[in-house]
Amino acid sequence: MGSRRSKIVGTGLGYPARIVTNDDLAKKIDTSDEWIRSRTGIAQRRFVDLENGQTITSIAVEGAEKALKMSGLDPLDISFVLCCTATPEEWMPIEAARIKDVLGLERAACLDVNAACSGFLYGLHLADALVKSGAHAHILVVGGDVFQRILNWEDRTTCVLFGDGAGAAIVSVTELNDPKKDSHILGSRVYAALDRDNNLTVTKKDPEFPARTQLLTMNGREVFKWATKCMAQACMDIMTEQKISPEEIDWVVPHQANIRIIEKVAEFLNFPMEKVYVNVDQWGNTSAGTIPICLAEMNDKGLLKKGQLILVTSFGGGFTWGSILIRW
Ligand SMILES: CC(C)(COP(=O)(O)OP(=O)(O)OC[C@H]1O[C@@H](n2cnc3c(N)ncnc32)[C@H](O)[C@@H]1OP(=O)(O)O)[C@@H](O)C(=O)NCCC(=O)NCCS
Repeated sequence: MGSRRSKIVGTGLGYPARIVTNDDLAKKIDTSDEWIRSRTGIAQRRFVDLENGQTITSIAVEGAEKALKMSGLDPLDISFVLCCTATPEEWMPIEAARIKDVLGLERAACLDVNAACSGFLYGLHLADALVKSGAHAHILVVGGDVFQRILNWEDRTTCVLFGDGAGAAIVSVTELNDPKKDSHILGSRVYAALDRDNNLTVTKKDPEFPARTQLLTMNGREVFKWATKCMAQACMDIMTEQKISPEEIDWVVPHQANIRIIEKVAEFLNFPMEKVYVNVDQWGNTSAGTIPICLAEMNDKGLLKKGQLILVTSFGGGFTWGSILIRW
């Protein structure tokens, strides 16, 4: 008998209704398509239509419904929902419970996970452990954010980088017999260090500007250095741990914050860019949404083939970062 492991059996993403190009932003703030593209690789981002009732829940549910359908599971098979987000609709009721309710996952326990942009990677790490331990057999992991709610439109360096988005994956139990062929999560590594210098924060209430509460601030240059170093190290650590060489990797799926960060990480690791999935041009940085959106897009396009090795890495506020190796 093989060992008890976990694998991804379904993926899906939700589409925020509004597409906002760099030129659209340039009508509102002092910026240009040329500046944004050359510094970040971003051409457009999507925002949920808050005025017409679209929320983090709607896009998360859209992704989760697709993932559930792909898995072929019954909603009652799902015994846990992990919702990875830094921007739930409200602190309570928790976001995972809202998703459970809309989807009719009557038997599922619920937990919100906030590891900022690394949320979904942390979520997969937890789901893998919960499945391997025998505590759960089928877990819905959702990752997504609606950063428009915390963007400061007076800070042009930061507000142009982000978009809204969410995606989902179903993590299910599997029996592993042949590690080179059978779909499974090989392992994951997660890390954290306090961002003592407040390089990436959501500010507390500022008495001088009471209207400007809970807004995102970032020291882009510092975060750039942290993100490249940490993601490259996390990738090296998991490959060493799992005795996998860079040449064996079929796809690298990095957090989509900025094309220059992605290229730097690929360069550190000697991965050709053809092996690196990039969609930051279409979505911007959707925080906890980037990885599940990438996986769902790749799956829908038929890019993920059974038996391939996928290396996922992420970095986010906190700071939090990590890596995960998946045999698809
Ligand atoms: C944010 C980032 C793109 C800024 O790039 P940069 O080259 O460091 O830019 P700077 O902040 O030094 O600004 C350079 C110039 O562009 C200007 N500028 C800043 N934002 C601008 C914008 N949106 N449009 C036009 N000009 C802009 C600045 O005012 C500055 O002008 P100056 O030289 O006349 O003073 C870059 O630091 C970065 O990619 N950081 C990583 C951020 C990230 O992705 N974090 C998330 C990780 S989870």
